[in-house]
Amino acid sequence: MNYFYLIYCSVPARRLSDEEVEELLLVARRENKLRDITGMLLCLPEMYVQLIEGAEADIRQLYLNLSRDQRHHTVTILKEGHLEQRFFPDWSMGYDQKSVTLTNAEDSFCISDEKVFALFEILDEGFG
Ligand SMILES: Cc1cc2nc3c(=O)[nH]c(=O)nc-3n(C[C@H](O)[C@H](O)[C@H](O)COP(=O)(O)O)c2cc1C
Repeated sequence: MNYFYLIYCSVPARRLSDEEVEELLLVARRENKLRDITGMLLCLPEMYVQLIEGAEADIRQLYLNLSRDQRHHTVTILKEGHLEQRFFPDWSMGYDQKSVTLTNAEDSFCISDEKVFALFEILDEGFG
C-alpha cells in the first residue's frame, strides 16, 4: 500500500473570519504541496471534517500538529487506513464551506457537492 489516509472531525474553537479561513488554506496548501499531501476539508458551522492522505509518516506528523492547533478542539479520528490510490489526487487541500446551521430545524441539512458526498461515502464504506 502506497498511501495512508486519516479522517478526523473536530469542533471549531470559534468561528473563523473569511480572511482567517483564507490564511489557513494558504498555509495548508503550501505545506501539503511540499509533502505531497492531498485531501479535503469540510467546514460546517459547528464541525470540521478533514481527510488527509499521503505518506504515513507525513500524515501522522500533520495529525499531531493539527491536534495541537488552538483553532479547534476535541479532535477525533473517525477513520484511518492504507490506500493504493488517493481519494483526492488533485487537491492539495480541497475546501468546502457549508453555511448550514445544524441547530436550525428550518434549514434542512443539505449537501449537494459531489466531493462532499465522496467524503461521506469513504466514511461509510469499508475502506482501510
Ligand atoms: C481545520 C484545520 C485544518 C488544517 N489543515 C491543515 C493541512 O491540511 N495542512 C497543514 O499543513 N496544516 C493544516 N492546518 C494547520 C495545522 O494545524 C498546523 O498549524 C500546521 O501544520 C503547522 O504546524 P505547527 O504550527 O505545529 O508548526 C489546519 C488547521 C486547522 C484548524
